[in-house]
Amino acid sequence: MRSIDEVNELLVAFNQCVLEGPARTISETEASTLRVGIDLGTSSIVIAVVDEAGLPVYGALEYAKAVRDGLVVDYIGAVTITRRLKAEAEAALGCSLTRAAAAVPPGTLGKNKDVVSHVLEGADFEVTAIYDEPTAAAKVLGLVNGAVVDVGGGTTGITIIKRSKVSYTVDEPTGGSHMTLVLSGSYGISQEEAETLKRDASQEREVYPLVRPVVEKMATISANALITGKYRKTGPVYVVGGATNFTEFADTFKKVVGREVIKPLYPEFVTPLGIALGSS
Ligand SMILES: Nc1ncnc2c1ncn2[C@@H]1O[C@H](COP(=O)(O)OP(=O)(O)OP(=O)(O)O)[C@@H](O)[C@H]1O
Ligand SMILES: [Mg+2]
Repeated sequence: MRSIDEVNELLVAFNQCVLEGPARTISETEASTLRVGIDLGTSSIVIAVVDEAGLPVYGALEYAKAVRDGLVVDYIGAVTITRRLKAEAEAALGCSLTRAAAAVPPGTLGKNKDVVSHVLEGADFEVTAIYDEPTAAAKVLGLVNGAVVDVGGGTTGITIIKRSKVSYTVDEPTGGSHMTLVLSGSYGISQEEAETLKRDASQEREVYPLVRPVVEKMATISANALITGKYRKTGPVYVVGGATNFTEFADTFKKVVGREVIKPLYPEFVTPLGIALGSS
């Protein structure tokens, strides 16, 4: 179990890599010990690189529409972006990256899971593992037993982890894009404008009251899922994913689920960082 301060320290370090470039230079001998994670998300594709000790050394992302609700809908697009992220990471770190892991929403099977491997292989990575997204998130949070709610672009995934394994999981088709639609409708603006408005922290006081009902709906669904999945009554819930970024998100969620709600810093980076931590 990691303390939330330790979790946040990791995420702050990763965010710094994303904003400012590599944390440090890498020697040729160290290159083979780096671990790489690729998160193919609905709203972006993220690359995360950590060192042998699990400390972030590099991070980058590209907004993309190559994946929808965890399924690759534009294979060539996904490969092209992953390839570019790899090349940029290699140039920045001054070494080659040969192996990587990825993740899929829990319950993704067969060809839908295979295609994620193929995207990595298409970008010249040897695939080390394909994780369940919440299992990857749990690695960052240091969770052995607990509940994770991942509110991404297209979906909200609610997962109960027991002894480091997924014991119950459900994916609900409500995510950040629904918040954008609500804002687009309310203000009579395009979805692109609504997306920008939604992410503008200086507008949050005005915008959040419109978004709150969506958060309450997600929280109600989560509360029911936690009961169905037999999560212990007093167990806390970790919320991750880009759409939890609103300052009031955890508070709204807590009021509905009636449990402690813990939101790490830079919640959109929890899953990608976890994928890298789990790679080898
Ligand atoms: N500062 C912010 N405020 C509000 N919403 C945000 C903010 N930053 C990102 N988002 C929203 O978070 C969502 C993307 O989250 P995330 O990066 O976790 O998704 P993803 O992994 O790409 O998608 P998924 O997990 O659904 O496949 C988008 O809907 C985006 O608009
Ligand atoms: Mg995601």
